[in-house]
Amino acid sequence: MSKEILVTGGAGFIGSHVTRLLLDQGFGVTVVDNLSHGNKESLDPRTKFEQVDLLDQEGLEKVLPGHDAVIHMASLIEVGESVERPIEFTQNNIVGTVSLLEAMKNTNVKKIIFSSSACVYGVPKKLPIMEDAPLGEQENPYGITKVTMEQFCMFYHRRNNFDVTILRYFNPYGPGELHQPETHAIPNFIRAALNKNPLPLFWKGEQIRDFIYIDDLVSAHILPLNLGGLHIFNVGTEVGVKVTDVIRKISEILGYEVEIEDKGERKGDVPSLVASSEKIKKELGWEAKIDLDEGLKRTIDFYRHHPSST
Ligand SMILES: NC(=O)c1ccc[n+]([C@@H]2O[C@H](COP(=O)([O-])OP(=O)(O)OC[C@H]3O[C@@H](n4cnc5c(N)ncnc54)[C@H](O)[C@@H]3O)[C@@H](O)[C@H]2O)c1
Repeated sequence: MSKEILVTGGAGFIGSHVTRLLLDQGFGVTVVDNLSHGNKESLDPRTKFEQVDLLDQEGLEKVLPGHDAVIHMASLIEVGESVERPIEFTQNNIVGTVSLLEAMKNTNVKKIIFSSSACVYGVPKKLPIMEDAPLGEQENPYGITKVTMEQFCMFYHRRNNFDVTILRYFNPYGPGELHQPETHAIPNFIRAALNKNPLPLFWKGEQIRDFIYIDDLVSAHILPLNLGGLHIFNVGTEVGVKVTDVIRKISEILGYEVEIEDKGERKGDVPSLVASSEKIKKELGWEAKIDLDEGLKRTIDFYRHHPSST
């Protein structure tokens, strides 16, 4: 019988892609989302949908029975908002995660794959970053919630025998990214460029990032469904790219250049983040396949054909 997977945050950018891949591979999928940010239209019609908030433990306990695993992606994600509204982020992300873990314990669903972030490393001392690098100081409440959510998942592994896989994403991008507000570089550059508006650029584009195309990112969620125990994996391409080079590539694809709007420095931005993905390659046989040029072409194509999203 096919496995049943519950995806929290499945109506969001990454969750809707993960859901589609799971369905294509024959899994049954239930999405739990409160629609605070995601939208129902992005859900594949084959999905079972439950509009439940993570904080509603009773509601979760009604939906969870019969599932083999949870992929936990529901979260508030906007760093700037987390600085303005730390209580809301703590409540939603940390208390919400504990509510989910308790509901899983009570319904005997004991496998979780958790969406974490490279931000847990703070300012890395060494590149590429390995999973055993020390976690760094956090410059914003969003980062603190990610570190704490990881800690709670690990606690339920130790205390309640949960199978836990923590995936630390580097910089995902791709079709369907429609955050409100959008603070990520690639969608903002592409939308501005298509509209021939100035491209908003921080730090003169000197930061180095490991941009991972959405299809590669989501494929990393499948193999951990067969893992027992506790695992932590980086999910990145191992290629560090300067933000100015992303702009150059976008201009090359579009065939024209657009003015830059110098936004100065943005507090809390780390100069360089590049993953070592040796561990996930070796242990799961996963690796990124789509390079930045191809990923940008596909992403530009999406925004071109969805003018309302620009
Ligand atoms: N997008 C990135 O660049 C990035 C990078 C690293 C890690 N992540 C992590 O990946 C996950 C998904 O990110 P995304 O970009 O798809 O975000 P998103 O905002 O598009 O999706 C998150 C979804 O979670 C839902 N949600 C939030 N709080 C909820 C709650 N209390 N109950 C039920 N549903 C709730 C929202 O409605 C939304 O549909 C998050 O955990 C995020 O921290 C994202």
